[in-house]
Amino acid sequence: MRWFLFALIISGIAIGVPIAYSKFSKPKYILSSLSYSSEEIEKKYRDEVVSQINEKLQGKNVSTEVKDILEKLKSNLGKEENNQLVERLNSLLQDDEIKSVSSKLIIRWEPEEKKVKRGEELFQNLCMTCHGREGDSLSVTPEGLKTDIGYPIYARDFTGKYHREGKVVFKFASDYFGEFAGDEDLKRIIKEGLPGTPMPGFSYLSDEEMNSLLEYIKSLNPRWKFASPQPKSYPVPPSDLLSDERIERGRKQFMTVCIACHRNIEAGEEPLEQPLAWYKFDKKGNIITQDGSPSFQMMKARWFGREPLRRGKPEYTFATIRDGIAGTTMTPWRHLGDETIWDIVSYILYIEKKGFHK
Ligand code: HEC
Ligand code: HEC
Repeated sequence: MRWFLFALIISGIAIGVPIAYSKFSKPKYILSSLSYSSEEIEKKYRDEVVSQINEKLQGKNVSTEVKDILEKLKSNLGKEENNQLVERLNSLLQDDEIKSVSSKLIIRWEPEEKKVKRGEELFQNLCMTCHGREGDSLSVTPEGLKTDIGYPIYARDFTGKYHREGKVVFKFASDYFGEFAGDEDLKRIIKEGLPGTPMPGFSYLSDEEMNSLLEYIKSLNPRWKFASPQPKSYPVPPSDLLSDERIERGRKQFMTVCIACHRNIEAGEEPLEQPLAWYKFDKKGNIITQDGSPSFQMMKARWFGREPLRRGKPEYTFATIRDGIAGTTMTPWRHLGDETIWDIVSYILYIEKKGFHK
């Protein structure tokens, strides 16, 4: 009887403790079982590129050596072996178009351990409270972060582990489809911050600190190894930027196309709520919100004159309109042409200056 009681108590502990742990101590916003590991992300990337190559090789005579190399390149290899294989592959492939695809498998960059360590230290001190202990933006503050006008906002996830394809999506530093950001663009954002959001500026960081931070951030997603990000181009603003003619032309354009989401701000209308297109996905492609429900996270189209421009210089606003904001419904408007975009920039800056603060 004593043994029976003893066994009962032990099994009670064995079952009860894990249940209690999972119910009470695990913060509900941790969804780690639904995320990709760094290895899985790299494998995903390799599989994707290899299948692009195979698609292009379809119907062609493919030697067994090419087939073997392609099979090998699917596994996560070290830089030297990997790059030798890609080189050999490219020497066997005739077609330049296919070579340009297979070149996506060249490892161009690898994190430097010392710099990563230094960057991690800085990150834990300065960025972790919002971007998460592991840089995945699982906010350390359970109630989450908010924009100036009270909308929930996530800090950027630098790991891509919740993204369907394992991508990191930068809003301002890449083009609409691109995922990567040039070093200079990232540094500028970290220096200047993003007004209207909780992202502060860190203007005091030294070059050494900034470089280490970037090294750490990039070490968090293996796709950076294969990337060759281009810096954004910022044109010089025209000399008549804020002329009445430009503002008027810009207003007309804005009322034709941008009004669909940003609404007629001068008439006191509120911008529309829009779904955030990409945020966190589970492995089935469902979007995960902080409470685990598979619904879209909503945000407002920018409320000019009430929220500050996140990147205030005219040429930044120009680039935002030209390239769009990745992961949101703010698409690129490049087709409008530079002159028209400058007209609209003039109008937005005019609204911004006038202000519609309540
Ligand atoms: C108080 C919270 C907070 C802190 C601290 C913080 N960030 Fe952020 N960060 C944010 C938020 C929120 C965003 C998203 C803004 C948006 O989507 O408009 C962001 C966005 C970013 C972006 C993305 C820009 C883009 O183009 O998408 C980078 C890069 C970044 N932060 C780097 C850093 C670094 C590096 C540090 C530490 C030195 C840091 N942040 C500290 C809140 C924070
Ligand atoms: C389909 C909806 C939609 C349309 C149409 C649209 N936008 Fe946006 N726009 C958005 C959303 C949503 C955001 C906020 C994205 C975010 O916060 O990351 C935004 C943000 C912006 C920003 C960023 C401001 C900043 O620096 O914080 C600018 C500039 C902008 N839009 C300009 C325009 C212009 C100009 C047009 C018309 C040519 C336009 N938008 C049309 C949805 C739209």
